[in-house]
Amino acid sequence: MAKSNSRLVLVLSGPNLNLLGQRQPEIYGTDSLQDHMRRVEETAAQLGLQIETVSAQGVAEIVEAIHSARGRCVAIIINPGALTHFAWSLHDALASFAGPIIEVHLSNPATRESWRHESVVAPVASGSIAGFGADSYVFAVHAVATLLDNKK
Ligand code: DQA
Repeated sequence: MAKSNSRLVLVLSGPNLNLLGQRQPEIYGTDSLQDHMRRVEETAAQLGLQIETVSAQGVAEIVEAIHSARGRCVAIIINPGALTHFAWSLHDALASFAGPIIEVHLSNPATRESWRHESVVAPVASGSIAGFGADSYVFAVHAVATLLDNKK
């Protein structure tokens, strides 16, 4: 297994998040995924973290990205989009990852339709950050930095 880069964090975006900024802006805001990732990179740089981003529409691609992070990345930040609510293979893939995992949502699924209330990712995440719009991602990067620093 490849040796992990001590500060490389994988940031995963699931289906339809590539349409952020155009898709239901009243819920998800007007920033594009690129805007969010730029902010993630800036925050990460301030905290001495490096970022690798993957945006994928399908479960298989996301599962493969998680497998490829094993032993290479120190943490995962993941917004699985609607896969959050039913994709148990994501749960199992994340369970195979050793470092901190932060689940992120721009909206707060707990206040929305009942089918969004379950997260298959939450049981294997270190914690979940939801409902803070663009700040959800920024908080997630801070959470990773804190968890990694606490481990030292
Ligand atoms: C989301 C919430 C999910 O329920 C939804 O399917 C998304 C976006 C969020 O960031 O608020 O695609 O993950």
